[in-house]
Amino acid sequence: GLAGLAGQFGAAPATARVAAPAATPVTPFTVPMTVPQTLRPVLRTATTDYYSVTMHRRRLEIVPGSRTEVYTYNGDLPGPTIRAFSGRRVVVRQRNRLHMPTAVHLHGGATAPEDDGSGQAVIPPGGERVYTYPNRQPHATLWMHDHTHHMEAEHLYRGLSSLYLLTDRTERALSLPRGRFDVPLVLRDAHLDADAQLVWNMDDADNRTTLLVNGRPWPRFEVQARRYRFRLVNSSNLRFFLLRLADGGDLTVIGSDGGLLEAPVTMPYLMISPGERLDVVVDFARYQPGTSVVLQNLMGPGPAEMVGQVMRFDVVPAKRPDRTSVPQRLRSLPPLPTPTVRRSIELRMDEPGSGGHQAYIDGKVFDPARIDTTIAWGSTEEWTVTNANVFMPHNFHMHLVQFRVLDRNGAPPDPTESGLKDTVIVWPGQSVRLQATFDTWRGVYPYHCHMVDHSAMGMMANLRIV
Ligand code: C2O
Ligand code: CU
Repeated sequence: GLAGLAGQFGAAPATARVAAPAATPVTPFTVPMTVPQTLRPVLRTATTDYYSVTMHRRRLEIVPGSRTEVYTYNGDLPGPTIRAFSGRRVVVRQRNRLHMPTAVHLHGGATAPEDDGSGQAVIPPGGERVYTYPNRQPHATLWMHDHTHHMEAEHLYRGLSSLYLLTDRTERALSLPRGRFDVPLVLRDAHLDADAQLVWNMDDADNRTTLLVNGRPWPRFEVQARRYRFRLVNSSNLRFFLLRLADGGDLTVIGSDGGLLEAPVTMPYLMISPGERLDVVVDFARYQPGTSVVLQNLMGPGPAEMVGQVMRFDVVPAKRPDRTSVPQRLRSLPPLPTPTVRRSIELRMDEPGSGGHQAYIDGKVFDPARIDTTIAWGSTEEWTVTNANVFMPHNFHMHLVQFRVLDRNGAPPDPTESGLKDTVIVWPGQSVRLQATFDTWRGVYPYHCHMVDHSAMGMMANLRIV
């Protein structure tokens, strides 16, 4: 199971180029967690919410007493959250006040190709661009991040990410925790030097040993003894998390990338790879007020005293009775149409020590001008995605669509993968079969490994829907 995988990958061969800092730069659980602010629209009309975002550099206090230079959306790490409703359009004016080109991608969104943020159309320094998000899709925990060709890995690492929470009537009708009991937990790692500055090296997983939740290192978060809904987003470039509560307490998974599952699943562990989202309910009513519960991470790389713990929940009494619940039936997913096209895709990168530093899909390094796969509009396709590496995990992300995971090496996928997904783990040597229907936009969209250092090394390709 997952615990076995943790052992397998926790001891990955070291490829350190720079010695990791000797000790935790922060005493864990001393910094209070914050929740990203909700962005206010600059204008609301009958059909559309208009937002304005500025990308700029900022020196933020991440390590207490130091200032770390980060790239931000509106000055925050992560940036402010956009809350959208299915059927209502969102228009975001993005102004680039950074010193390099940027491009903003709505991860998990079904957007027109020109608004996908992944094409050639970058926002030059000093420039701006307006992105339109039609939100003609069901509720989902989406997120926005930089996708500038070849620079997506560095830009995401330096801070360009924020949440985009799309809701709809189906979701609103449920009695799930909401408001301040619906809390995003954006997880990532960072390599900080002695001056608390971000160190950017490609493929530097072993040295990114400072863990951040909503931009805070190993924070503590006060929770009432009641139910909370947590939107877990892994915005790391490379790090996978295998999470558990220190007491082994139940984690009720209610959703994933593309919104709610059909039914909740109770898990002792949660695995989340870069780009994936998990929607989890924890009932803190089972703890005595005064109890503290650590959210642990059982997976490397990095020393356990740094990467083995993520944050701490400090339980206080509930202020009023908890009237929320997790219904046994959350939603109905559309039936799976019969696929008419089957394809196989191979992910591979040069193995550590091979001398090569490139990554491939079907043996080819990404060329943004090349179309790798042509898809007929309206069709349903079944893709078998194979990880041809021996040690290195990958994951697989498709733009535009939410897909279904059919199986992994012929075995049923993890129950948390039973809903709509846009990013899926592919362990070394594995093949994952997935199915998607391409019946929204036409045009060119990428698919890639969402370990974004790998995608920036070439593990990306283009599909065109015609
Ligand atoms: Cu989250 Cu192509 O990206
Ligand atoms: Cu990869």
